[in-house]
Amino acid sequence: MGIYIQLVILVLMLTKRCLSQYEEYDYDTDYNPEQENEPPFHFSGITDYNVPGVPYTTDCARECYCPPSSIITMYCDNRKLRTIPQVPSRIQQLYLQHNVIEEVKMKSFINATNLREINLSYNRLKFQNIDSGVFAKSPHLYQIYLNNNELEEIPSPFSTSIERIFLGNNKINKIKEQDFQGLVNVTMLDLCNNVIESIKGKTLMKSTKLMQLNICNNKLSAMPANLPPSLMYLSLENNSISKIHEDYFTKLPNLIAIRMSYNKLEEVSLNMFNLPQLMELNLGHNKLKRAFYVPRSLEHLYLHDNEFETLNITLMCPVMDRMHRLTYLRVDQNKLRRPISTLVFLCFPHINSIYYGEQKHIAGETNVPLIPQYPFTEEDRDDYDDFSQYHREDHESLAGEPAGDTDEDNYFDEYSY
Ligand SMILES: *[C@@H]1O[C@H](CO)[C@@H](O)[C@H](O)[C@H]1NC(C)=O
Ligand SMILES: *[C@@H]1O[C@H](CO)[C@@H](O)[C@H](O)[C@H]1NC(C)=O
Ligand SMILES: *[C@@H]1O[C@H](CO)[C@@H](O)[C@H](O)[C@H]1NC(C)=O
Ligand SMILES: *[C@@H]1O[C@H](CO)[C@@H](O)[C@H](O)[C@H]1NC(C)=O
Ligand SMILES: *[C@@H]1O[C@H](CO)[C@@H](O)[C@H](O)[C@H]1NC(C)=O
Repeated sequence: MGIYIQLVILVLMLTKRCLSQYEEYDYDTDYNPEQENEPPFHFSGITDYNVPGVPYTTDCARECYCPPSSIITMYCDNRKLRTIPQVPSRIQQLYLQHNVIEEVKMKSFINATNLREINLSYNRLKFQNIDSGVFAKSPHLYQIYLNNNELEEIPSPFSTSIERIFLGNNKINKIKEQDFQGLVNVTMLDLCNNVIESIKGKTLMKSTKLMQLNICNNKLSAMPANLPPSLMYLSLENNSISKIHEDYFTKLPNLIAIRMSYNKLEEVSLNMFNLPQLMELNLGHNKLKRAFYVPRSLEHLYLHDNEFETLNITLMCPVMDRMHRLTYLRVDQNKLRRPISTLVFLCFPHINSIYYGEQKHIAGETNVPLIPQYPFTEEDRDDYDDFSQYHREDHESLAGEPAGDTDEDNYFDEYSY
């Protein structure tokens, strides 16, 4: 009798285990990876993650972790790996960041035709150790992180399905015309912090969905050639560009932000930035002397650390129709000696803040007069009471816009659109 009871308990326990085992592997056909929140990772872009109807197998690479909650993900990050393990065919998201991987061999990816996303950032990848075409094997690949490696060239070709390519913080010194050939769907390309000297020819011309191009902190001496008209965000800070052709931006009517601080611009043509969508223009740390037309859409204009002795408002805004949206103007570290003409408030009725900061010293001058900031601080107001015209009486509320806006040197937020 006792034995019988023990047997029943054993059977019950076994049944329970089996059941719970099934509960763990939930093959919900409507599986949506966005609903999973463990372990957390950042999702971006819109991709239809079709989960292939394969049963769960034990093919997860020994070195990696395949969460039971997702049959499409393999985590191999932060494991001191030197090589890439075999990637099972079911895997769509492959995380290999923060290892010491130097090479990428075709054999690891032989069956990996379902990959959507590869993260190989923070490794030791060298161009010559990457099998040519290895990133072109997955016809659905849409996002690849190769930033923070030791690449000297771009490991092209990529799948033509690719949408986002991160190549920042490498040692890339040249771009071949065919590197981005056929990438008709690419929307974002990050090449910041490399040593690129030029982008010539038709390299990017056919990428007609390109929205964001970051080439900050490189060695460009000229503007990148033949960018597609789809471009919205252009980051070229800290290069050595001294000239922009007069017509350069007329082919880029969709630009929303142009960042070109820390270059060598001495002059820009009057209508250079006459772009209908432009909201942010950063030309700080150049050598500009002469003002230019400010488009109506522009909200933030950075002209600090240039050579301006005056800002001719008539040039910036020839028609005072009060249609300009400018709210913030930064002009510190120039050679200004007095506040900008009060016309500035008529031209730019939404202006919230003009940051004069400190101005540069001019040889032969004994002291640099301090220009009162706009809006006035209480202290300045006392000192400059006689200068009442400077403070526009009918100015609308100053609340809202922060006066600072000094995060101008960061490069575009990777997910800014
Ligand atoms: C690739 O997939 C095939 C078919 O599923 C399988 O037979 C083979 O073992 C796989 N190769 C590797 C290296 O995993
Ligand atoms: C790829 O790895 C980097 C470095 O850890 C991380 O910042 C980034 O968010 C990762 N991308 C994805 C999509 O997981
Ligand atoms: C580009 O994207 C479109 C829309 O998502 C898709 O239909 C097309 O197949 C993609 N092109 C390539 C070459 O993958
Ligand atoms: C500009 O880029 C160089 C490398 O090309 C870097 O050393 C320097 O810190 C950068 N300067 C700024 C202001 O970002
Ligand atoms: C501003 O520029 C216009 C056109 O070049 C010129 O006629 C005008 O005198 C300038 N205004 C000032 C204040 O320098």
